[in-house]
Amino acid sequence: MRLALFGLPGAGKGTQAEMLSKHFCVPHISTGDLFREMLSSNTDLGREVKEIVTSGRLVSDDLVTRIAFKRLSFKDCKNGFILDGYPRTLVQANSLLCSDYMISHLVLIEVIESEIIKRLSGRRLCQKCNIIFHISNLVDVDHKYFCSQCQGVLVQRPDDQRAVIETRLKLFNENMSQVFDFFEQKKLMVRVNGNKAPKDVFRDILDALQKA
Ligand code: AP5
Repeated sequence: MRLALFGLPGAGKGTQAEMLSKHFCVPHISTGDLFREMLSSNTDLGREVKEIVTSGRLVSDDLVTRIAFKRLSFKDCKNGFILDGYPRTLVQANSLLCSDYMISHLVLIEVIESEIIKRLSGRRLCQKCNIIFHISNLVDVDHKYFCSQCQGVLVQRPDDQRAVIETRLKLFNENMSQVFDFFEQKKLMVRVNGNKAPKDVFRDILDALQKA
C-alpha cells in the first residue's frame, strides 16, 4: 500500500491520511509535518524553512524531495506508506517516479474552494500529539481548546491566516494540472469527492481503491 494524497490545502489530506494509516497499518508521512518539526530548530535551515512555510510558499523541490526520501527510507515504510503533501509539483512527481518509492496510486480529494477557507480558518492542531481538529466540533474553554486525546492545548497554524491561505491556494492551482496529467496518463489517479463528512470520504477512498 503506497498511496499519496493530493488536493487543495484543507481538502482533508491529513485527516484522511491518519485514517488510512490506521486502516492499513502503514505510516502517515506528511511533508508539511516534517517541515513544521523543523521550524523550532535554531539552525539556518530551520529559519529558512520557517520563513517559506509561514508565508505559504513552496519549499524547493530539491529540499522537499531530500526530506521526503530520507523519511521514506526508514524501516517502518517497508510495507507501505501514506504520503500526504508530496508530490505537489511535476518535478517532484518525476523524482518519485525515478526513485525506490514510487506510489501505487495518487488519491485526489476534490473540494470546492468556498469550503476551504471555512475549514482552514477553523482548523486547530494539538501542540502535543499533532491531531487535527475543527472548532465546529470543539468546546470553547475560556477561549482555549484542548485535545480530546491527550488534553494538549490546540493551536492555529501560522499559515492558516487568510492572506497566507490565498497564496497557498494560488500555488496549488498553478501546479495542479501538471501533476494531475502526470498520474492520469499513467492511470494511477483515483478521484474522490471530498465535500462529504470525513468518514464518508474515507469509505469512498477505500471503494475507489478497490475498483482501481
Ligand atoms: P501541508 O501541511 O502539506 O499543507 P497543505 O497541503 O496546505 O494542506 P493542509 O495540511 O493545510 O490541509 P489538509 O488537506 O491536510 O487538510 P486537513 O486534513 O488538515 O504543507 C504546509 C507547507 O509546507 C506548504 O505550504 C509548503 O510551504 C510546505 N510543503 C509541504 N509539502 C511540500 C511540497 N511537497 N513541496 C513544497 N513545499 C511543501 O483538514 C483541514 C481542516 O478541515 C481541519 O480542521 C479538519 O478537521 C477539517 N476537515 C477535514 N476533512 C473534512 C471533511 N471531510 N469535512 C469537513 N471538515 C473537514
